[in-house]
Amino acid sequence: MRPRTLRCLVLGALLLAAFTAALLTLDAFGPLRFRWASKLILSNRQKVVDAFAILFHEEGDRTYNNLRWLGIPLQKNPMDLWIYQEMLFEVKPDVVVECGTFKGGTAYYLARLMDLLGKGRVITIDIEKHPGLPQHPRITYLLGSSTAPEIAAQVRNSIKPGEAVLVLLDSDHSMKHVLAELRLYTGLVTPGSYVVVEDTHFNGHPILPKFGPGPMEALDQFLKESRDFEVDPAREKLLFTFNPRGYLRRR
Ligand SMILES: C[S@@+](CC[C@H](N)C(=O)[O-])C[C@H]1O[C@@H](n2cnc3c(N)ncnc32)[C@H](O)[C@@H]1O
Repeated sequence: MRPRTLRCLVLGALLLAAFTAALLTLDAFGPLRFRWASKLILSNRQKVVDAFAILFHEEGDRTYNNLRWLGIPLQKNPMDLWIYQEMLFEVKPDVVVECGTFKGGTAYYLARLMDLLGKGRVITIDIEKHPGLPQHPRITYLLGSSTAPEIAAQVRNSIKPGEAVLVLLDSDHSMKHVLAELRLYTGLVTPGSYVVVEDTHFNGHPILPKFGPGPMEALDQFLKESRDFEVDPAREKLLFTFNPRGYLRRR
């Protein structure tokens, strides 16, 4: 083929491509564009969810770190809070043990839901006493490390035989600490109830890829040690969670 003919062909192809692209931006092609975009999204589900998780975390100051329950700050994914509400209704625990109080928003959320359910209390543990903790008759605050033997003993001693117990782990997120919490507190969880290993999305699952071994790695190790718990994927039905594989149900 002569160089001049080749040049004409390339130019013609470029012009056609530019014309087609311009045509597709017209409103009339909106439905077609929507169908293509939907197809692309649906064939990359996990990547889409992960991308949103990364964006949600990157924008933490306006998202998870900027939430309040009835005025009290809490650090959560609202999708997970909805799941907590469903778990609470289904399990109707007598006691929820929360490791990592922060400003008390989650403890207060649980306590107010318990008011509606007419039962339950929250024991929440933190090494730090944050100012302005909400006071509620269903909430007991313990000050100290969740892995300190005296704190674990206080928790154990305040649970009566036969009481249904649910545990939330949301304190120090290093693998070592979470694994220690799992070994200390899962014995309290009653059959059919849950231990929630929070923030398993750390260390590249999919956020904070340089975090190092964290909750997900602790959970993996724990599941090798215990046959009493299984991951409940049904609790991840809303797709976006801070706790992927972190909802562990006691068999
Ligand atoms: C992510 S925040 C907890 C958020 C809270 N659960 C909520 O939903 O709002 C983690 C908390 O764990 C506490 N913490 C860190 N190390 C701890 C430990 N060894 N024992 C208990 N709490 C600890 C921190 O002081 C912090 O308040």
